[in-house]
Amino acid sequence: MSGVRIEIEREIKRPQGAVSQPSKAVNHWTSKSVYFSLLESNHSAATKANSAELLVEKLKETDIHAASMPANIQELDHWLTEHNEIVGRQYREYLAARKAGQPRWYFGSKSHALFFLKAVAPTKLVDGAWLFGLMRHWQDPRLASLIKIYLEELGDGVEPMNHVVLYRKLLKLNGCEDWKTLDDQFFTQGAIQLALSAHTDSHLPEVIGFNLGYEQLPLHLLITAYELKELNIDPYYFTLHTTIDNAQSGHARSAIDAVEEAMPMFNNSREFMQRVIAGVKLNDVGLSTLDIIRHFDLQGEVVRVLQSKANIGQFMHSDRCVIGGKTVNEWLQDNEQVAMFLYEMEKTGWIKRHQDPEQSPFWKVIAGEKAAMFGVFTPYEQQVIYDWIAGDALESMPMLARLGRPWRMVERQSKAQEDAKNSRYGNVYDFHSGNRIGKKLPETDFNQDQLSFERYVHSIDNEETLMNFLVDWMSPAKHHTPLGLCATRYFKSHMDSLF
Ligand SMILES: [Fe+2]
Ligand SMILES: [Fe+2]
Repeated sequence: MSGVRIEIEREIKRPQGAVSQPSKAVNHWTSKSVYFSLLESNHSAATKANSAELLVEKLKETDIHAASMPANIQELDHWLTEHNEIVGRQYREYLAARKAGQPRWYFGSKSHALFFLKAVAPTKLVDGAWLFGLMRHWQDPRLASLIKIYLEELGDGVEPMNHVVLYRKLLKLNGCEDWKTLDDQFFTQGAIQLALSAHTDSHLPEVIGFNLGYEQLPLHLLITAYELKELNIDPYYFTLHTTIDNAQSGHARSAIDAVEEAMPMFNNSREFMQRVIAGVKLNDVGLSTLDIIRHFDLQGEVVRVLQSKANIGQFMHSDRCVIGGKTVNEWLQDNEQVAMFLYEMEKTGWIKRHQDPEQSPFWKVIAGEKAAMFGVFTPYEQQVIYDWIAGDALESMPMLARLGRPWRMVERQSKAQEDAKNSRYGNVYDFHSGNRIGKKLPETDFNQDQLSFERYVHSIDNEETLMNFLVDWMSPAKHHTPLGLCATRYFKSHMDSLF
């Protein structure tokens, strides 16, 4: 077994306590509450205070972590090159191991991979958020690299290139949209990113450092993209980040430029670098990618899926169907009984595990367009149930049944829908004039919001007022909406006209 595999496994087996150290003090907020309150349009005094506390707490928590980057700015280039060489070498070892017949390192099944997509959603859906606090400083050339990165995270306002839009589509396509029900621990990274955006005025070096750490290409991104593709899940969001964050000209490079550009703003460069390093270490907060992968428990997830249906399901079944001495409605009345209900279904032949799920009457009732319970379970939930029933026989199941349609087919379909949508929003702008190149939107009820938005933008003759108005629409909560995208295009157009 290769050295890198051992290293990865060691990290996977890390005890839970070593992953995130819960705070000793009792807070009146949680990561999840801070996360959602920071996504509201106006931040209350309580939101500001709680998110500031979260930042202080997490900076303290990571203070004892070893620094992965040099304190000397002259050494950053070498650090970047070396990091990329190591990741490149480790990825080659991974590919060689897979070629030699090793199973996937990350995802045991498609449902495992879909769980991962859902579990990292709170972080991915605020991609780039930590840079938002800089946007009101668009005139400052010392922040140009960071502003450019934020605009690129937003796809420069072009919908199919906006990273949050892309991730939302990925979740939708795979029926993984119920991420808001995840436990608090899955929201810590996202809460930190949003908190940095809300407190940039007092945490600029930490924001720059967080960006530097986040934009470096990690090994797990490459492996994730490889294994998602193998499981018929569109890996585009992940492959995009291997290219856009590249070390030569991408975000990884710009993140280093940003440190160099901003340094003259601070009187004490040593202190500045220490705070940048503290920001880099904030990337360690919360669950890591490998922690999240390890978190998946197929048996537990099947039980959770059935429990989530029990509230409604307990009234929907006919009393003629008795399993293990109880009607289905009786089984579903108590969440604690669901695991036992599954066991009884196995015992009575409703579920035949470790063979083709098509042999199980239970599967036939929930899957297929003519099934009695068609539509009750989301695609993600069906995948969980399929993988669990197939069990040890999963890898020998027919590809289409096990992994669904190849993602390219799905992608083509969604691309067609996307094209239709783009023409509606007139996504193509001349960045220099700010004018739409495509035809003007017709004056219909459907376009009222965008038409009045555009009229308002063109009526503002004060540059600062205009840019502040646009920045409001480019917040992490709004930039992926049609008006947010429109604002981003105007903003980008104005920035291009300045240089
Ligand atoms: Fe991104
Ligand atoms: Fe990036």
